[in-house]
Amino acid sequence: MSMSPPVGIDSLGVAFPSQYLELADLADARGVAPSKFVDGLGTRRMAVPGEDEDTVTLAARAAREALALAGSNGEDVGLLAVGTETAVDHSKPVASFVQGLLQLPRAMRVFETKHACYGGTAALQLALDWIRSGSARGKKALVICSDIARYGLRTAGEPTQGAGAVALLLSEAPRLVALDAGMSGIFSQDVNDFWRPLYSKDAQVDGHFSVKCYLEALEGAYRGYQGLAAPTAHARFSDRFAAIAYHVPYGKMAVKAHRHLRTLDWDPAPDASFERLVAPSLHFPAEIGNVYTGSLYLALTSLLASGGEGLEGQQVGLFSYGSGSCAEFFSGTVLGGATARVRSLRIPERLAARRRLTVPEYEAVMVSREEMDARPAGDGKGAPFHYLGVAAHRRTYAPAES
Ligand code: HMG
Repeated sequence: MSMSPPVGIDSLGVAFPSQYLELADLADARGVAPSKFVDGLGTRRMAVPGEDEDTVTLAARAAREALALAGSNGEDVGLLAVGTETAVDHSKPVASFVQGLLQLPRAMRVFETKHACYGGTAALQLALDWIRSGSARGKKALVICSDIARYGLRTAGEPTQGAGAVALLLSEAPRLVALDAGMSGIFSQDVNDFWRPLYSKDAQVDGHFSVKCYLEALEGAYRGYQGLAAPTAHARFSDRFAAIAYHVPYGKMAVKAHRHLRTLDWDPAPDASFERLVAPSLHFPAEIGNVYTGSLYLALTSLLASGGEGLEGQQVGLFSYGSGSCAEFFSGTVLGGATARVRSLRIPERLAARRRLTVPEYEAVMVSREEMDARPAGDGKGAPFHYLGVAAHRRTYAPAES
């Protein structure tokens, strides 16, 4: 284990749409057994973004929450990066919109990163190294993972959609998770498992092949991590972790991932540790669906919110996967007080307050969202931090409450 100072996640914030679709309802409408979506894919519900919601509005809301939890007004932030694969402009980064909406200081690096669902982890690792190197000079980094996961209506990917953002405030005095420096197993390859052509809002995917690519990348990244780690007294390598959070495009993928990882550990009963090591990280993903870049961090949030104080002081494993592909297995230690801090965000209560859409309502939103990037801004009024439309080719948003 590295002796570097414990740089890591000081605070976090989560944003998700206020409406959702019950997957059992979608299954009924598509003439599929509900158990296929709920048990077969392991997802109960998926968040459906409204017509005034996009990657910017989700990112801004998550960032505002992360700063509030840290008691920061943003003056201590020196780097703002948004990892996303559903950006709103070919040139202007989502991060610049967030900087404006949150009225953050001007003396900061502001940019966007992309590599499918891995884009947020790319930004996170760069930001951690910026802090560890001393270049940050005591400043914090705000890394936001924000996406709207969208596939075509009536496609195999349809039940694996979702939307949301997770903002992570990184510092040299973290209060949630200290991330282990230099402890990253990495795997990447040029592969067409999932992509989104420039002309389409809907992702394309070679579904079963993408599962194979994910597992191959997990194996490469995990083997890489093992090569860096000190020997352990545990019978199985992954028993050094109190929990493992995976990238969760849908819950069953985490089941498959964990089964594969334990098989690599020569575990003759590879599913036996699932409830203990993985299940607590799947509560929020099962309610929200795939959030692409934020997926691993939503799983980590779920783990911290439901893991209990026994998790504090323990090491956790983290696996990030982005199609195309790049994957990273890394680790960190949950810090004292982290679980209560994350519980104070009251995410289960906020999930329970969402509105349930009917399938026709969901389909109408999906169709309407196809035109939203060109929608005129109208009277320029709307709920704080919400998308208003386009005026003179500029995307406009309602400012925060004054
Ligand atoms: P499918 O072909 O419709 O489903 O697509 P299936 O036939 O494979 O069935 C799914 C599971 O349900 C199977 O379980 C069935 O046995 C089971 P498994 O064998 O896998 O354990 N099942 C049932 N269970 C209970 N009751 C029933 C029943 N019927 C069947 N009645 C697929 C599934 C995931 C391929 C599709 O939804 C898809 O293409 N999704 C999108 C792609 C995806 O999420 N890939 C994951 C890996 S790639 C990744 O994670 C990256 C990503 O996040 C993007 C990025 O990086 O940006 C996607």
